[in-house]
Amino acid sequence: MTDNITLRFAIEADLPAIITLNDEAFGQADEGKIVALLHENDEALLSLIAELDERIVGHIQFFPIDAIGPGAAQFAGLGPMSVHPDFQKTGIGGELIGAGLKEVKALGYQKVFVLGHADYYPRFGFSVDETAGMSAPWGGPHFMAVELNPGSPPLAELHYPSAFFE
Ligand SMILES: CC(C)(COP(=O)(O)OP(=O)(O)OC[C@H]1O[C@@H](n2cnc3c(N)ncnc32)[C@H](O)[C@@H]1OP(=O)(O)O)[C@@H](O)C(=O)NCCC(=O)NCCS
Repeated sequence: MTDNITLRFAIEADLPAIITLNDEAFGQADEGKIVALLHENDEALLSLIAELDERIVGHIQFFPIDAIGPGAAQFAGLGPMSVHPDFQKTGIGGELIGAGLKEVKALGYQKVFVLGHADYYPRFGFSVDETAGMSAPWGGPHFMAVELNPGSPPLAELHYPSAFFE
């Protein structure tokens, strides 16, 4: 990662720039809208940004997932995440994931789920195997999870924030 890039927690005033960044990275407005709704609906857990000279060039979002079933589960989701096209493949995404997972682990979450690139997230410990026993609105090779803390119940029905369905 470029030396001058710094990571910090996002604040409310960063939201418009974060939405623009998501729109640019994905080339469409859907993910920016999800970020906006997660914050609007009070469904966000953690938002980190990467900055270069006070310009937001990377962002990662985490949110809580409600788990219904036997046993107490503390589950979170990762997404959306984006790095500005001019700065992709320089390590910013990896730094954001590493820093984000560290924070979510410290908060006591057992697992983080992601629906994303099947060739990218496994390098950070995510695997399809970790989703076994979980009933979710999605599945397949893009649906992965990583265990951060022990104690995850073996069976649960995952309920994502409404922001993903509006
Ligand atoms: C995916 C994304 C967040 C990765 O961020 P990044 O800062 O470019 O990633 P890093 O620099 O940490 O890692 C780069 C590596 O990831 C790989 N990678 C990036 N995007 C990938 C993808 N879509 N599928 C598989 N591998 C990918 C690169 O090929 C590179 O591999 P290498 O280390 O073997 O050269 C960024 O490319 C992005 O914003 N893409 C558009 C939006 C998006 O797809 N978001 C994620 C949705 S799940």
